Amino acid sequence: MRLDKYLTTLGVGSRSQAKELIKKGKIKVNNQIVKKPEQHVKEGEDIINMEGLDLSYHKFYYYMLNKPAGVLTAVSDFQCETVLDIMDVTPKRGLFPVGRLDKDTEGLLLITNDGELSHMLLSPAKHVDKKYYVELDGTVDSQLVDCFRTGFDIGEKNITKPAVLEVIDINKAYVTITEGKYHQVKRMFKHFGLTVTYLKRISMGPLVLDASLKQGEYRILKKEEVEQLLEYKKS
Ligand code: URA
Repeated sequence: MRLDKYLTTLGVGSRSQAKELIKKGKIKVNNQIVKKPEQHVKEGEDIINMEGLDLSYHKFYYYMLNKPAGVLTAVSDFQCETVLDIMDVTPKRGLFPVGRLDKDTEGLLLITNDGELSHMLLSPAKHVDKKYYVELDGTVDSQLVDCFRTGFDIGEKNITKPAVLEVIDINKAYVTITEGKYHQVKRMFKHFGLTVTYLKRISMGPLVLDASLKQGEYRILKKEEVEQLLEYKKS
């Protein structure tokens, strides 16, 4: 296969982006810089390297983003800036956010091109824990802890699945849910007459938001974090 075509299949970008990278001398085939887009390469055999990154070994990419408020959880949008727009990573093609955070919600968002892992993390049958830090416009009554544990009606077919509410302060709490219904956390508090004024996701399954990431910052997942996710997938 031609090198430029092969690069697109590895997720580097469009054909013209691939040609550009080759012409700039950023691509090595078997440790040699190649500047001809038409050069023939053997898929799965030749070692393709882009600026030190071994593409042949990086089939999947995993990033942790600390989503800022005001950005849409989507790949692209005509009007709004999306989480992918604020990430300057290569290759970007094929990456997508796992699950959805509301536009005004902040915090942990996994960005990957691993469809199987995403499917598992979002599967209702898997009951993946999602923990949020919540601020409210009123007092969180400690009696709500029991209500969250037993479940209640928020207008869905079934009552909410058992959730863990940890009251931190009069109007601050952590809540851990295993579902991902539309506006779920906001609707759960609304049921008790409370409005969520600030919402931040701090963990999803085994993945915990890196506290050193400022809003809008992201980093590639560490090897151990990827391993934990893949282990979790198997369990
Ligand atoms: N629940 C919500 O209400 N909003 C989110 O963004 C995530 C969970």
